[in-house]
Amino acid sequence: MNEIELKIHQLRDALTHHNYRYYVLSDPELSDKLFDEMMAELEQLETAHPQFADPHSPTQRVGSDISKEFTQVAHVYPMLSLGNTYSEAEVSEFYERTERALNEPFEIIAELKYDGTSISVTYESGRLVRAVTRGDGANGDDVTANVKTIRSIPLTLMGDSYPESFEIRGEILMPWHVFEQLNKEREAQEEPLLANPRNAASGTLKQLNPKVVASRKLDAYFYYMMGEQLPTTTHYDNMNEARRWGFKVPDTMRKCNSLQEVFDYIAYWDVERKNLPVATDGIVLKVNALRQQKNLGFTAKSPRWAISYKFQAERAATTLNSVSFQVGRTGAVTPVANLEAVQLSGTTVRRASLHNDDIIQSLDLYIGDQVFVEKGGEIIPKIVGVDKEARFMIGDKVSFVKNCPECNTPLVREAGEAAYYCPNEFGCPPQIKGRIEHFVTRKALNIGTGPETVDAFYKAGLITDVADLYTLQSAAMLNIEGWQAKSVNNLLKSVEESKQIPFARVLFGLGIRFVGETVAKRLAINFHSIENLSEATFEQLTNTDEIGERIAQSVISYFANEKNSDLVARLKAAGLQMAIAEEQLAAQSDKLKGLAIVISGTFEQHSRDEYKTMIEQHGGKNVASVSGKTSFIVAGDNMGPAKLEKAKKLNIKVINESELLKMIQ
Ligand code: IVH
Repeated sequence: MNEIELKIHQLRDALTHHNYRYYVLSDPELSDKLFDEMMAELEQLETAHPQFADPHSPTQRVGSDISKEFTQVAHVYPMLSLGNTYSEAEVSEFYERTERALNEPFEIIAELKYDGTSISVTYESGRLVRAVTRGDGANGDDVTANVKTIRSIPLTLMGDSYPESFEIRGEILMPWHVFEQLNKEREAQEEPLLANPRNAASGTLKQLNPKVVASRKLDAYFYYMMGEQLPTTTHYDNMNEARRWGFKVPDTMRKCNSLQEVFDYIAYWDVERKNLPVATDGIVLKVNALRQQKNLGFTAKSPRWAISYKFQAERAATTLNSVSFQVGRTGAVTPVANLEAVQLSGTTVRRASLHNDDIIQSLDLYIGDQVFVEKGGEIIPKIVGVDKEARFMIGDKVSFVKNCPECNTPLVREAGEAAYYCPNEFGCPPQIKGRIEHFVTRKALNIGTGPETVDAFYKAGLITDVADLYTLQSAAMLNIEGWQAKSVNNLLKSVEESKQIPFARVLFGLGIRFVGETVAKRLAINFHSIENLSEATFEQLTNTDEIGERIAQSVISYFANEKNSDLVARLKAAGLQMAIAEEQLAAQSDKLKGLAIVISGTFEQHSRDEYKTMIEQHGGKNVASVSGKTSFIVAGDNMGPAKLEKAKKLNIKVINESELLKMIQ
């Protein structure tokens, strides 16, 4: 081993150790800064000496940008679910049933039931080789690339006492604080909120882009091991072994020797679980000895040696004082219940979401009702029922408003959608102001102002849309209370600077429904300019990666509206960036002019999207399916067999990525 290779190995070992201290034990020995420096050094060495690359290196956690569609994998051991119980009586029944069936002493291991998404991870020779979702229990999605970005999951194991090959099962979780932060960001973008950390975790795991997964800070707790040569004869000892190999095995599991000990565990964690960093929805009881587990066996759906007990969601009763209807930037109207303040799971609750009209209808609510609020998994508490017996002085029946509470326009409900919208896009104040507020945010045009100024300027008649920001006059601004030469100049300067903001962010700032930051970037790269985008057909749009029918339709409707195209024209005239920069365009040629190219599979050197962009930059056309008109196919790994067959039949040339790169060099 030469000096460089040795250094690389040392850095990898050290980083693996510090990663474990930080993400598994939550007990770092090193400052973040030092950790980052070591990581940067390793990255630099690995780039300079690619012959020492290793997919299990700690540098590989960041996730590549290359999207892989998931392949289905059959589980070696089916992933079963657990029988659920909801009462202590049912837990007693389980215990007594086990007693009768075994007819010998046994231990029960009590554990928390983590509320995320389950995963089965296979290790061979101490290295993570595969991670598969539950799927339908028999087959799941291979999500290895995504799972490798989760820092508390070991890529290589510690020590040397692990079996040559084994599978370990656990739960992938989004910690509460990450979930709350993510929802805050979504709220700011008026994107629909994620209902609970479980949906957030499973949605994240199914992301095609591992880079996105890496950014979401998921965690994983492990709770079961399987294989032919397990280290010990009990579940409890196996899990303790797994902890020594580097897995995050919760130290909340307890050995119970009586039913009473099981009940004590339940009672303790029913309260204490509120202080955990992740969501739990019950406890799991497992017979400890593997031999006894084997004897008890399985029913068709679940093991006979284990059961779950679900906690009751926390609930409180309070009075419904009123219901308000809020109009957002996109015109969506949200009903919110205003409640008499009540304590629930340690916080004071004054408002609860009523979601939509269907929910209001099914609750049959009256103002003044005693309602039950619950905070199960969701951040915003919800009303789950009405105490009809307690109804005595009945108020008005709650029904969804028919007209916009802000501008009185009749509301509309689109087919297939639960929400009502105010269609008065250009006349409804919260929509107008909301669009301007969105336009000036940091991630869009980054104009140094906020909702208060937008409101004041709007009321004074200075701005009615985002283009008005570019014709603001100091004299008129100085007339507004609290505005002086200095604040006026600062704002004008900031408006001027926004003319340099890249096209993708301008596009995001327009606030086209469903066009968030990522979609805006994708559209900018694929269509280059606002002109191209405004002329794009539904097909061209949906042929773009990550652009589905919903987004395509929204883009088309946006540009079909004359008011929007006028607005865009005014912004362009004001000098905003309405196309991607020259340097990006300079890479263009017509080497692929007139060619219809199908790109299929996954690639090593660039992502599929990057290849699509390159093809367009060189004048080629990306087509989705193979036909007689296809010029050639660029095939990566795992290209669909149907496509390959069709190509053969039609005698269409198939090339690899290096050949494509050569063509455009
Ligand atoms: S054991 C054969 N232990 O609950 C037994 N499962 O309904 C396999 N879960 O799919 C499961 N915490 O996603 C087990 N401590 C725990 C668990 C747990 C959460 C989930 C798991 C499973 C579901 C069963």
